[in-house]
Amino acid sequence: MTNPDVAATIKGHARLERNVTLLGLGTLLVVAIGGLVEIAPLFWIDNTIEKVEGVRPYTPLEQAGRDIYVREGCYSCHSQMIRPFRDEVERYGHYSLAAESMYDHPFQWGSKRTGPDLARVGNRYSDDWQVQHLKNPQSVVPESVMPKYGFLAERDLKVADPSANLKALAAVGVPYSKDDIEKAAADLKAQATPDADTADLVARYPKAQVRDFDGDPSRVTEMDALVAYLQMLGTLVDVNAPAAQEDLAKEKGR
Ligand code: HEC
Repeated sequence: MTNPDVAATIKGHARLERNVTLLGLGTLLVVAIGGLVEIAPLFWIDNTIEKVEGVRPYTPLEQAGRDIYVREGCYSCHSQMIRPFRDEVERYGHYSLAAESMYDHPFQWGSKRTGPDLARVGNRYSDDWQVQHLKNPQSVVPESVMPKYGFLAERDLKVADPSANLKALAAVGVPYSKDDIEKAAADLKAQATPDADTADLVARYPKAQVRDFDGDPSRVTEMDALVAYLQMLGTLVDVNAPAAQEDLAKEKGR
């Protein structure tokens, strides 16, 4: 004997399944609920990215280096996103966190790896190595297929209006302060100039690396900017801290 409640439900459902209009309406209702639950919260929360300690906007020099990276199409051979798979984590380090690229416009995740991922290449090599490698990759990695970028060391870094760059980024949500925007041109120069007074720069951009990057302290070149950018990649966040926090959260959940 079937339970009378169950029998009633089956009968009701049979009616629903045999009436196309009713089934259509029912389907629409269920999909609409699913859609609402997924989409509606996005209108009320400011940010879908979890905040992570250490993430900061790029300094004007790093940003200029990043623009050169994009201009030269480095992304066509290099990704900047370490996926959470064992082989990647063992080769490149802790997997990338969403927050680490939250100030990237556009992001450089990439889908092509002719060369290695660069998300954590910062501080892995010396400036000398980076410059030598960019000038002539085959001189340090004989089998490399990477093109030569020696001309970057010949060209003075020219940014038409560093303040305008930061202002544009601020318009799309990168939290540059008024101070950052006003001092952009001075910051750009100071970060690559030995003996410049950079205490204020480092206070506004924690962990900013200040020095001559290209081996020619007399001027600021495109090479300075690109190497400053590469040496910063992956160094802002203490990746082991959020990972430790995640593990802790899991422990508590158990
Ligand atoms: C045609 C593809 C190609 C392009 C374009 C390219 N690279 Fe590479 N890159 C490679 C390959 C292959 C390697 C690995 C061999 C080597 O170290 O040279 C590499 C290695 C590197 C490394 C060393 C990474 C590591 O962990 O050892 C850095 C840094 C780098 N490239 C930066 C750049 C930058 C910056 C640009 C743009 C100015 C660029 N690459 C453009 C192919 C490319």
